[in-house]
Amino acid sequence: MRFSREVRLRRHPRGKVEPADFRVVEVPVRDPRRGEVLVRNTFTSVDPAIRLRLAKTGQSGYFPPFALDAALDGIMTVGEVVESRADGFAPGDAVWHALGWRDYAVVEAGAPALNGLGTLTRLDTALAPPQAFLGPLGGMGLTAYAGLFLVADLRPGDVVWVSAAAGATGCLAAQFAKLRGNRVIGSAGSGEKVAWLLDELGLDAAFDYKRGLVAELLRAAAPDGIDVYFDNVAGHHLEAALGALRRRGRVALCGAVSEYQRSAPAHGPGNLFQAVANDLTLRGFRGSSYVDHMAEMQREVGRWLGDGRLRYRETIVDGLERAPEALMSMLGGGTIGKTLVRIA
Ligand SMILES: NC(=O)c1ccc[n+]([C@@H]2O[C@H](COP(=O)([O-])OP(=O)(O)OC[C@H]3O[C@@H](n4cnc5c(N)ncnc54)[C@H](OP(=O)(O)O)[C@@H]3O)[C@@H](O)[C@H]2O)c1
Repeated sequence: MRFSREVRLRRHPRGKVEPADFRVVEVPVRDPRRGEVLVRNTFTSVDPAIRLRLAKTGQSGYFPPFALDAALDGIMTVGEVVESRADGFAPGDAVWHALGWRDYAVVEAGAPALNGLGTLTRLDTALAPPQAFLGPLGGMGLTAYAGLFLVADLRPGDVVWVSAAAGATGCLAAQFAKLRGNRVIGSAGSGEKVAWLLDELGLDAAFDYKRGLVAELLRAAAPDGIDVYFDNVAGHHLEAALGALRRRGRVALCGAVSEYQRSAPAHGPGNLFQAVANDLTLRGFRGSSYVDHMAEMQREVGRWLGDGRLRYRETIVDGLERAPEALMSMLGGGTIGKTLVRIA
């Protein structure tokens, strides 16, 4: 009999996540049935959206909240097939699926998960190691790619601002725009992150949003304004963008991480009329709604990774039991690039 540890939600966090909100239990693993595979998970994803799903009440239209005292279904993970009773999968295959935050998972081939993003898929590890498929070659890459090119409709000459630019999605969106020849400004929450954006990723300007008023810091970095804002943060950041966007500017509303841990109502933009005054477009989107573009994104991003033009970084936390700690650290700005938990 095989056993698997899994992280469960003990109670709904109030405000900031704490390790005591979770517990790790050991459960027996059943054998795969026809059409299923048994996967030993190796790396599992740590995403801000997990925080939204720890709440008692879900966000209307979004993935449902996690159940208390049950495995957390719907978190991306990569692993190795141990046993297969499904066509197209063999022991040793590297795969991704959506039953993360546990050692082993029995996964049904072809069963849709996370809007199609988390459906069991074999990974082409000739392109990059499996965990890169939780970052640039997976949902993060797709979100940055779709947000910038399909939602914000990036054009030559656009000046682009990306917030949370040292994070998993932001560092990709910022570099994709640089690779297309745009002027790119990034913001992040520490001097170390700002130095990485400037020195390693080659952004044109970057600022630490904790060192003053966001609107003023943005004005200093982009005195003539911006055309595209890739919004990972919302709140004061979105308000600053509305004040800086030029005529027919576009905002890709990717996330609102400044809201996720708040117990009080979030700060909404007090200058929304700027959208009217300047013919702006604000468009929310989910990366998973663009899953049809995954192969196209992987081809282009795989090329950029292969020839060294795209850089990415991972913050790896060792040990499944430390997944809640990794989530806390990431939400608090303590990680750079894609945050992962190494299970095995
Ligand atoms: N639409 C989609 O399909 C989709 C898919 C993936 C992610 N997202 C969204 O994209 C955003 C980034 O996600 P990610 O996975 O790439 O995570 P990430 O950027 O790697 O990690 C989140 C980062 O947010 C920053 N942050 C936390 N609180 C903040 C605050 N109050 N103000 C400003 N920055 C804050 C922190 O960095 P600092 O040190 O810079 O503060 C932290 O590292 C999130 O809003 C997420 O929900 C959306």
